[in-house]
Amino acid sequence: MRPAALISHPYGKPALAALLLLPFVYLVFCVTMDRLGPNPAEALIRSSGDWTLRMLCLTLAVTPARVLSGWHALARYRRMVGLFTAFYALIHALSYLMFDMEFVWAAVGADLVKRPFIAVGMLAFTLLAVLAGTSTTSAVRLLGAMRWQRLHRAVYGIAGLALLHFFWMRSGKQDFAEVAVYALVLGTLLGWRAVRFKRK
Ligand code: HEM
Repeated sequence: MRPAALISHPYGKPALAALLLLPFVYLVFCVTMDRLGPNPAEALIRSSGDWTLRMLCLTLAVTPARVLSGWHALARYRRMVGLFTAFYALIHALSYLMFDMEFVWAAVGADLVKRPFIAVGMLAFTLLAVLAGTSTTSAVRLLGAMRWQRLHRAVYGIAGLALLHFFWMRSGKQDFAEVAVYALVLGTLLGWRAVRFKRK
């Protein structure tokens, strides 16, 4: 089957959903089988954070892939990939609140003062939640297409905040190799949009 036909296939969406759910299934497997290593809370928070960032990159890659390939049916996957980004961010935030902080809000407050990069993550998550909540067709109708589009440009701010969150966290260890890879990927995806916007 040709890629264009595969993308337009009625089973395309459930197939992609199953694929994007695999990291979550693997994380649940690791938690239940005690396979997260000596520090399970840290491993869970870190790998769910990594998956949130990967999903964000994937969300931002849908439009360039659609325009550059001419496979316009790719547009129908954008919302779902965006919702998966919010889902992994929720798992990441809940892992931190549950396993690191045990839902003790005073401890969360103290940690925010000690590690402000977490506040940056929280801001990114709040914005993601707003975009997920307004991703429906009825929200587009309610807000009007122009206003909806303007609101959903917040995804670029989310990308910047996510990078800052990651950079700040890793700066304590002076370990920037992975941050540089994500900065390159996100910079390319956002740069492509900026060039396209200028040309228009
Ligand atoms: C769009 C939202 C977010 C993204 C993309 C994101 C991404 C990441 C990434 C990539 C890491 C580093 C993982 C690694 O070292 O391999 C990380 C670490 C971390 N994130 Fe987030 N994050 C987000 C939101 C949040 C939120 C809302 C919280 C808390 C409520 C949070 C708390 C943390 C903590 C505590 C760590 C560090 C864990 C440690 O010190 O081991 N993040 N995040």
